[in-house]
Order: sequence, then C-alpha cells, then structure tokens
Amino acid sequence: MKALEIKNLYKYFGGIQAIHDLSMNLDEGIKKAIIGPNGAGKTTLFNIINGLLPATSGKISLFGRDITHMSIHQRTQLGLARSFQTTRLLFELSLLDNIMLAIQGTQSSRFGLFRPVMGYSHIVAKAQKLLELVDLWEKRNEMVLNIAHGEQRKMEIALSLASEPRLLLLDEPASGLTTSERAEIAQLILRLTENRTILIVDHDMDLVFNISDRILVLHYGKIISEGTPDEIRANERVMEIYLGGGED
Ligand SMILES: Nc1ncnc2c1ncn2[C@@H]1O[C@H](COP(=O)(O)OP(=O)(O)OP(=O)(O)O)[C@@H](O)[C@H]1O
Ligand SMILES: [Mg+2]
Repeated sequence: MKALEIKNLYKYFGGIQAIHDLSMNLDEGIKKAIIGPNGAGKTTLFNIINGLLPATSGKISLFGRDITHMSIHQRTQLGLARSFQTTRLLFELSLLDNIMLAIQGTQSSRFGLFRPVMGYSHIVAKAQKLLELVDLWEKRNEMVLNIAHGEQRKMEIALSLASEPRLLLLDEPASGLTTSERAEIAQLILRLTENRTILIVDHDMDLVFNISDRILVLHYGKIISEGTPDEIRANERVMEIYLGGGED
C-alpha cells in the first residue's frame, strides 16, 4: 500500500518556482528522508503535503485517497501528523498537561468538542504511555520551560504521536541540538517509529543516513536523485551539489 503518492506537483510563489514537476511515492512502513540545500523546497513540500499550503498544480494521495484539496483537519483524520521545527509546546504548563491537551485535541477534532469518547482516566493512561515512550514520565510535573531543549524536542515528537498517525512528517527534529542530543534523538526516532511510515527533513546527515531506508535529494524544487543511503552516498552528482559543498 502506498502511504503517499505525489504526481506532477508544482508550486509557485509569484515568479519563484519552489517545486517543479515533483513525483514521488512512499510505501507503507518505509522511512524516507528528503535532503537538499537551503531553498531546495523541502519545507514547502512538507507544507503542501500537510495542507498548510495549496499546490499550484498536481495531485497528492494519502493511503489511496486524493487529499489534494482537503483541509489539514481532514488529513489528520486520515492518519497524517507532523512535528514542527518551531515548537508548539505550552511552556508554562506541565509535560503531562501538554500531552493530555494534545490527546484531547485529537479527540475533539475527530468526534466533536462536546462528546469526549475517552474518559479522563483513559487520557491519563495514554499520556503516561506517550511520556514513557520518550523517557519523560519522571518529569511529568515539570513545566516545559524548565526542561532541557533536547527534552523539549522529545516532547514535540510525543505530541505528534498523540493522534496515532499512520504517516508522520518530521520537520528538522534535531535542529538546535548538541551532537550527543542528536544521537539520542536519532535512537529515539528509530525506536518510536518501528513499523511506522515517516518522511523526515533534517540537515544532520548522520541522523538522516542512520534512520532512513530511502533518501530523496531535492535541488531547486526538482528531484535529482532517490535511492538507499548507500546509493546516495555513491552518487557523484549529489556529492557535488550538496554533501561536498556546504557546511551542513
Ligand atoms: N511563503 C513564501 N513566499 C515566497 N517564497 C517562498 C515562500 N516559502 C518559500 N519560498 C521560496 O521557495 C523556495 C523553497 O523554500 P523552502 O523553504 O521550501 O526551502 P527549504 O528546502 O526548506 O530550505 P531550508 O533548508 O533553508 O529550510 C525558496 O526559494 C524560498 O525563498
Ligand atoms: Mg526548510
């Protein structure tokens, strides 16, 4: 089953061509990374898949359903979730409150605001499970502002799992982290996303090459290469335009 299918996608911002005739597939259960230099169109692509931005033209299907013109909310209902690079956490609330609100949020969007289908104790149980997954249950009563930046990034991942997504988009999950925190988040992502379908954008090549089954290279809005991590490493053109060229 194809989790995601994109056909002939174009995106223009006025005269700027951000995505040019992009077609790609993502099979269920696969972890795929999108890499490319600054301005390649990675975030734009995420925004279009997620429903934050409309495509100029092209077609996007999620688990066999055409979602090209669906709202973010409808896409969430079909199993799509996204973690944001800029954090959505409520800094003056506890970790537990943050997670519980996220769980409630997924419920109300699915079943209507005034008809909670899950009782309070079920929400707490689910919150505990999510916090344990990211090793933060012990800190559940701390305010978000008092935990480390790396822990906040873990919370961000926990929140994105609250809706139990079938396809998870991870937007620079390691940005702003130290080398050891990045290694830790890579392990965490591997552990949490076993048997899950993920699409990940990150500038940390160690993380990307360790996590991904497949890597897609974007350059000026076009796919210039796609393959296994080994194939991408061996691709001279990719090395030339991206991996060899920058500080990233
Ligand atoms: N809202 C917008 N309005 C106008 N141009 C935009 C907008 N968003 C992105 N662009 C342009 O589209 C192109 C792709 O940008 P995008 O942010 O998708 O790149 P990126 O691959 O995510 O880069 P980075 O690695 O720096 O995050 C760039 O030329 C950018 O300037
Ligand atoms: Mg970006």
